Amino acid sequence: MLAVIGGSGMAQLPCLEISHRQIIRTPYGEPSGPLTFGKINNHEIVFLARHGHGHIIPPHAVNYRANIWALNSLKPKHVIAVAAVGGIHADFKPGMLVIPDQIIDYTYGRKFTFFEGTEQPITYTDFTYPYCQITRDYILEAAKQANEAVIDGGVYAATQGPRLETAAEINRLERDGADMVGMTGMPEVALAKELGLCYATIAVVANHAAGRGSSVLAIPLAEVYAILEKAMVNVRNILQQAAKY
Ligand code: HPA
Repeated sequence: MLAVIGGSGMAQLPCLEISHRQIIRTPYGEPSGPLTFGKINNHEIVFLARHGHGHIIPPHAVNYRANIWALNSLKPKHVIAVAAVGGIHADFKPGMLVIPDQIIDYTYGRKFTFFEGTEQPITYTDFTYPYCQITRDYILEAAKQANEAVIDGGVYAATQGPRLETAAEINRLERDGADMVGMTGMPEVALAKELGLCYATIAVVANHAAGRGSSVLAIPLAEVYAILEKAMVNVRNILQQAAKY
C-alpha cells in the first residue's frame, strides 16, 4: 500500500476513489484526521491531510508522532509526503517540484522522537541520509513516466513557523547550504526514519523565499495559493503514475 501525506494545497486527493475513512488512536494522541482509504488505478492508497480537514492545524501544532505512528501501523510500502516550500536556490522557482535528499532542522519545541522515555533503551537512529532512497527513486521514476519535471535533490531547511522568515534568516539558511525552506519537514522525516518507514518528500515550490525573487514586496499569499493549486495537478499526475506499480 502507498501512503500519501498531503500538505498545504492538498487537503484531499481528488483522484482517489474513497472506500472508507478510519479514525486511528495512537499512544501519542490523535492524528491530524481520519485516514482516508481508497484506490487510484486499482492500487490501494491511504491518505492523511497533515493540517487536518479544512487546513486548521498549523505546522508547529501538527501531531507528527501520531500521524507517523498511525501510518506505520498499516505497514505501507512507501510514504510520499507532499509539502509546500519557499525556494532559496535561484533554480527553485515557484511551481517547480523538488525531491529533497537532505534536511537541516531549525525547529524547536516539537515532539520529535518515539524514544524519549528513560524506560526504553537509548536508540541512536542513523540519519545521515534522511530520506529513503528507494522511495525517492520510486517518485523520480513515476515523475519520468508521467512526463512531469522534478528536480532530483536539494537541501530542505525546516523552520518553526508559523511566521515566514526574515530576509536575513533566508541568507543564513543559504549560507548553511539550504536550497528550500518549509515548516513541516521536521520532525516528520526523522520519526519515519525511527520507525524504518520508506519515506520521501515531493516539495512544491510555492514562492520565492523571503527577500528572493524580483518582488521587493512581502510574499504575495494569494499568488502562492494559486501556484500551489496549479502545481498540485502535477503532483497528482505523479501520484497516479506511482500508484500503477
Ligand atoms: N517559508 C517557510 N515555509 C514555507 C514557505 C516559506 O517561504 N513557503 C511555503 N512554505
